[in-house]
Amino acid sequence: MLYCFERVYKWECFDAMEYITHSRAETETLGERLGARLSAGTVVAFTGDLGAGKTAFVSGMARGLGIGERVTSPTFTIVNEYEGGRLPLFHFDMYRLEGADELFHIGWEDYLARGGVCAVEWSENVAEAIEPDAIRVDIRRGPGDDDRVVTIEGI
Ligand SMILES: Nc1ncnc2c1ncn2[C@@H]1O[C@H](COP(=O)(O)OP(=O)(O)OP(=O)(O)O)[C@@H](O)[C@H]1O
Ligand SMILES: [Mg+2]
Repeated sequence: MLYCFERVYKWECFDAMEYITHSRAETETLGERLGARLSAGTVVAFTGDLGAGKTAFVSGMARGLGIGERVTSPTFTIVNEYEGGRLPLFHFDMYRLEGADELFHIGWEDYLARGGVCAVEWSENVAEAIEPDAIRVDIRRGPGDDDRVVTIEGI
């Protein structure tokens, strides 16, 4: 069932699986609402194509966590760390990773143990490393250029 984005403001609807956003700002706001609710140690695993809006969503999550810094894509660095919010945010981009082994080499388990929130773009590439209790966020293009279907599971 599809819910219009406006419903996001009603918390009782947040368990709904799908939202449609019509702009980057709306996707950021959806991320912000999620970020405000997250607890220490949560993994948020993203799936979806290039340019879907994963980084936009994560920048909203950062805002929801009270992080003032601007979020940029960690494509070349694999992980960006943001302190200074309610919880630290570790923002991973697995686009260039070949598999979960590489992730363990960069210290995935240490990040998990640091009591922050791990946002993982291109989690498809490290599927074995993502725990079953992770929150899943899938973002797909919708009918219009700026439409996105955002599916959130596992809250
Ligand atoms: N509804 C929308 N939600 C999010 N982004 C949108 C939306 N409509 C248009 N856009 C545009 O789509 C692009 C999304 O870029 P973003 O970097 O967030 O994607 P991404 O999924 O992180 O891509 P990548 O896999 O390359 O990291 C931006 O240019 C943004 O302005
Ligand atoms: Mg991105």
